[in-house]
Amino acid sequence: MVKILAIESSCDETAAAVVEDGRQVLSNIIATQIPTHKLYGGVVPEIASREHLEAIVAVVDQAMEASGCAFADIDAIAVTKGPGLVGSLLVGVSYGKALAMALDKPLIGVHHLEGHIMANFLEHSDLSFPFLALVVSGSHSGLIWVEDFGKYRPLGQSRDDAAGEAFDKIARALGLPYPGGPAIQKAALEGDPHKYDFPRAWLESGSYDFSFSGLKSSVLNFLNQCRMKNEPISVPDIAASVQEAIVEVLAEKAIKGAVTEHTDTIVLAGGVAANKQLRERLQSNKQGIKIIWPSLVFCTDNAAMIGAAAFGKYQKGEFSDLSLNATASLPIFENSQQD
Ligand code: KG4
Ligand code: ZN
Repeated sequence: MVKILAIESSCDETAAAVVEDGRQVLSNIIATQIPTHKLYGGVVPEIASREHLEAIVAVVDQAMEASGCAFADIDAIAVTKGPGLVGSLLVGVSYGKALAMALDKPLIGVHHLEGHIMANFLEHSDLSFPFLALVVSGSHSGLIWVEDFGKYRPLGQSRDDAAGEAFDKIARALGLPYPGGPAIQKAALEGDPHKYDFPRAWLESGSYDFSFSGLKSSVLNFLNQCRMKNEPISVPDIAASVQEAIVEVLAEKAIKGAVTEHTDTIVLAGGVAANKQLRERLQSNKQGIKIIWPSLVFCTDNAAMIGAAAFGKYQKGEFSDLSLNATASLPIFENSQQD
C-alpha cells in the first residue's frame, strides 16, 4: 500500500491529505480562506499567501493525525506545483520540499488540473482510463481526452474567461457574494432561465474551445443599461439565464466530444463540476453517456485529489528534485507524455 501525504495551496484553500494507493482517503483537511476573501469580493493574492503561511503547519499536522499514520509510514510527499497564484503555490511547494528533505522521502510535483481530474478515482472504484474530462474550474475550462496518468490530449480549451471566472465576475456585478458559482446557482432557483437570451459563444464550427468573456460583457452591459434607465433588475432571472447560457455550452460541447471520441464516460472536474444544473443537463443526454463527478468536497480545491494524481506518478517513478518550483501558468499538456 502506497501512502502519499499531499499538499495543495494554489488559491484560497490550504489543504493536506493522506491518500492510500491513489483511491483511499485516510484524511482530508481543508482550511478555507473564503470568509476572508468574501470581504473583498474575490481572492486577494497577498492575503492568500499570508493565510497559507499561517495555516500550513497546522493543516499538515491535522492531516497526519486524522490519518492515523506516522511520518515513517508515508511513502512520498506530493504538492501542487501550478498553475495558481504564485505566492500561494510557493507556500505549499516550500513546505513540501522541506518535509521531503527532512524525512528523506520522494517528492512529487502535481499539476493542479491533473488533481481535479484524478479526484474522480477517490470515489468511483469502477472508473478506468481512457475517458473524456470536462475540466471547469475558476481559472480553466477545457475538454480533455485522458488516456492515462500523464497522457492528455486537448479537444478544447478556454480562449478567455474560464467558466468559474464568468460565474464569479457576473455574480460580483449582480451584488452576489464570492465565490460566484454557488451564489448564482442559489439565486437561479427562484429565476426563469429563459427570461434573457444571453449570448452563447459556439465559436467556429466544430471547435471545442470555450469563450465566456462575451457573455460576461453582455451581462455587464445589460446591467449598466438597466441602472442608467432606472429599470428594475431581477437578480434571480439574470442568474438563472446566465447559468443556462454557461451550462448549455459546456454540456453540448462535452456530449459532442464524447460522441466523436466514441467514449461512454464523461468525467467532471473542478469547482464548476459542483453545479447541479450542469450535472442534470449532462445526465439527461440521449446518447446513454455515463456522467460521473466527485462529491462536493473533492470538486473544489482539496489535497486528496493531489494525492490521487500523485499515485500515478509514484507508480511510474516520476519524482521531482528539490529544484521543484511553483509556476503560475502551467498548461497541462506540457506535462503530457507522448507514446
Ligand atoms: O476548482 P476550484 O475550487 O478552484 C480553481 O482551481 O479555480 O474552482 C472554483 C470555481 C469558482 O469560480 C466557483 O465560483 C466555482 O468553482 N464553483 C461553482 C460552483 N461551486 C464552485 N460554479 C458553479 N456552480 C457551483 N455550484
Ligand atoms: Zn482548483
